Parts: sequence; C-alpha cells; structure tokens
Amino acid sequence: MTVSYKELGFVNTKEMFANAMKEGYAVPAYNFNNMEQLQAIVTACVESGSPVIVQVSSGARKYANATMLRWMARGAVEMMKDIGKPVPIALHLDHGDSFELCKDCIDSGFSSVMIDGSHLPYEENIALTKKVVEYAHANDVTVEAELGVLAGIEDEVSAEHHTYTDPAQVEDFVKRTGCDSLAISIGTSHGAYKFKVKPGESVPPLRFDILEEVSNRLPGFPIVLHGASSVDQKAVATINQYGGKLDNAVGIPEDQLRKAAKSAVCKINVDSDGRLVMTAAVRKVFVTKPEEFDPRKYLGPARTDLIAMYKEKNQSVLGSANRVK
Ligand code: G3H
Ligand code: 13P
Ligand code: ZN
Repeated sequence: MTVSYKELGFVNTKEMFANAMKEGYAVPAYNFNNMEQLQAIVTACVESGSPVIVQVSSGARKYANATMLRWMARGAVEMMKDIGKPVPIALHLDHGDSFELCKDCIDSGFSSVMIDGSHLPYEENIALTKKVVEYAHANDVTVEAELGVLAGIEDEVSAEHHTYTDPAQVEDFVKRTGCDSLAISIGTSHGAYKFKVKPGESVPPLRFDILEEVSNRLPGFPIVLHGASSVDQKAVATINQYGGKLDNAVGIPEDQLRKAAKSAVCKINVDSDGRLVMTAAVRKVFVTKPEEFDPRKYLGPARTDLIAMYKEKNQSVLGSANRVK
C-alpha cells in the first residue's frame, strides 16, 4: 500500500531548513531504532519547542522491521498531541544506498530521504542522486545527497580516511542533481572514536574553510553535517565505571558544532551520543541494582537521561530550542 507522508502528519525539510538558514540554527536529526529512543527524541523536542527530523538507517529498518518503525514514527506524531504543542516532524531515511530503498521509503510515508552516493565515482553519484530526486520531487519529498567521504562506518560501508568535499564540485553537483540539501565532509566521522588523540590533547578543528567555500558557492543552500556526536565524556566514564570498555572515545567539541549551526549547516546528525547515554544508564542499573529484571526499570532511566541530553543539545548546541512559534 502506498501512503503519502502528508496523510501521516510529517513535513518535508523545505520549510524547516529555510527557517534554520534564516535564523542561524540547525535542525536536529536524531536516529532511532526502538521505542524508548523515539519517545525521548519526541518528548525532548516538544518540550524544547524544536523542529525535529527522526531518522532511520537501513540497519534500523532491518533491526526493528521497516513496517514497525514507520508506524512507530506515526505514533510519535500522535503522541506529540498528548504531551504538548506539536512541532514539525520529518521522517527521514539516513544513508539510503539505492534508488529502490529510497522509493520504498517514499512510497511508505517518509517525507525526506538521503541518497548516499558519496562512495561512487562523481558521475555515478550524480546519476543516482538525480534519479532519486526525480521520483522524490514528484511526491513532494525532499532529498539529501552527499559529496566527500567521512571516515568511519556508514552502515555496511567503512572508510579509513576522510575525503574532504571538494568545493569546486558543489555547484555542478547541486545544479545537475536538483538535490535539496548536501552533506559534506569537513572532518567529522561516524561513531564514538572520531579522532586518535592522547589524553589531554585537543582534537583537530573541523575544516571550516571548506564549509565557508561551499556556502559561498551555494548561497542560501542547506548543508548537512553527519558524524556530529560530541561523545560526552561523562557518559563514557559511567559506561567504563560500570563494566564497559570504551577506550579513547572522542567526539566533536560542542563549540565547533555551535559555530557550524550558526552557518549554512541546517541539519546536524546525532546517533552515537544517544547510544552512549542509553548504555551508561542501563549499565548503571545493572550494576547498582542487580536484583532488577524488569526492562522498564533500566530502559525507563535510559529514556529519562536521553530526554535531558537531547534537550540540552537543542538548547545549547544546535540552537533549535524555542524556534517553533
Ligand atoms: O550513519 C550511521 C548512523 O549512526 C546509523 O548507524 O547504520 O548502525 O544504524 P546504523
Ligand atoms: P554520529 O555517529 O556522530 O552520531 O553520527 C550519526 C550520523 O551521522 C547518522 O547519519
Ligand atoms: Zn551519517
């Protein structure tokens, strides 16, 4: 059965990004795989008056079942009405790797898709992105594309080193594909181990020079930052305190994200930070209350901590809080 996202209560990212660009903030794009994560994202964004993009990777679709995830997102739209003033919400495919996957998501109610052809030769990336854009735009769905490769793991694809986005390509790419936003590579990476630094050393700054050149060449065009978790050291310490083993996990400093959010970066992707906060809370309960075996007793505290983390991010890093009038 084909269903339009409009019937489900989602919006595409067009107006979200126009507002973010005009007012100098970034819309949060948070990944989810399960109910507690989704509840936390929606609760935090309603309570902080922030528009939100809830995103699903193909790995998440395999894990939780594509139909289940879609209806959970639909449930989130309804849940917003129960807990406060609803905020604009987009349902987005994260790192789509084929036309068929993007089409399947568009046909089943996604309002936005990413086609990630960044690992392909330039002309192949253009051809694939263009094909997705044509189908998506016929359904009023927005499309995110990517130029440049992030180090780390993107679903099943992993890259050892960054290939920074070449600003000289961006105008041609956007013009020929018709994409609505562009993910670029300026030094962020996926996961909890973003930089190899010794304790006490600071991490290398993001390549704001590339971001600036890209936005000069594409004035007013929405840019997306993947791999933007900060890897909160308190969460890492709690995980390690309660039996975990995360060595040298480091993320993107918050001040760099604040700076990015004020620029042409209109969407900031965060997944690992949610995983870390959740794991820290669950580990703590397992160790401090070994008698507990009710999932609500460890997933409940995890959800509470997630809400606090997302609210804080909206408020003090992305600047997206209190933007919904
Ligand atoms: O880009 C990667 C996202 O964090 C999704 O991760 O493919 O393990 O669900 P995943
Ligand atoms: P993190 O691993 O830094 O959270 O990045 C998530 C992401 O980019 C999802 O597409
Ligand atoms: Zn990503």
